[in-house]
Amino acid sequence: MKKLFTAAALIATLTMALTGCSSSDSSSSAASSSAAASSSAATSAEADSSSTGVDKDVLIMATNAEFPPYEYYEGEEIVGIDAEIAAAIAEKLGCELQIEDMAFDSIVLAVSQGKADFGMAGMTVTEDRLQSVDFSDSYATGVQVVIVTEDSPITSVDDLFAEGASHKIGVQNGTTGDIYTTDDLESAGLATIERYNKGADAVQALLTGKIDCVVIDNEPAKAFVEANEGLKILDTEYVVEDYAICFAKDSALTDPVNTALNELIEDGTVQSIIDKYITAE
Ligand code: ARG
Repeated sequence: MKKLFTAAALIATLTMALTGCSSSDSSSSAASSSAAASSSAATSAEADSSSTGVDKDVLIMATNAEFPPYEYYEGEEIVGIDAEIAAAIAEKLGCELQIEDMAFDSIVLAVSQGKADFGMAGMTVTEDRLQSVDFSDSYATGVQVVIVTEDSPITSVDDLFAEGASHKIGVQNGTTGDIYTTDDLESAGLATIERYNKGADAVQALLTGKIDCVVIDNEPAKAFVEANEGLKILDTEYVVEDYAICFAKDSALTDPVNTALNELIEDGTVQSIIDKYITAE
């Protein structure tokens, strides 16, 4: 009996060694299995560990699923651009993808402490974050924009910087919208920043008149404005930035994931995922 068990264990070990990340784990969350399923049509066969250099069965992605169209809930499942790109990367590496939803400002810490393998959350590459994590190449561009009510006296980003300005600005806690408005405006005595756990909560505060505007990334801004009457996005852009995947410093995953990402950019998979969620104007 013992011998049999040992043999079985050996075969299992060998199989894992041969396939690297095996995708036989069926205990993944609804979110991850759905993301994997939707990407399988777009990508090809699994790679083995000898070519990918990844010796994990499951890749844990830290995200904050409050950011349509990059990551958000559809029922119980986390879907969106990042979820699908991550699933395609995991598939290329022969790994199962598991998505962990958390507060946005916990992602960098979770990744740097090794509680997650990577962070993908429409996350902007910043000097500050580069102190704690490494980033992949960029896979998308984001723009910080300003959402106001249709009748707002604020008509451009410049109005936020005007002498004597004293707006209440809503942001998602820990995002670049928070960081920039805090540094540029609150520190200069030109605004009070109200920090919310979710962008959607900032938008609700705007709708009920508790704040004067919301500074947030353009794609979620569009989604929130579409979902609510009486809001608009100002034409002027606040800051243009690059989204990338973050890893613990010197992680062994950075290179293989980055290589997989670049292959998916080159073969058009990333663009087709983006096109599925963002319709060009
Ligand atoms: N791009 C902004 C940043 O990196 C906002 C990202 C928010 N993402 C999210 N999944 N809530 O700070």
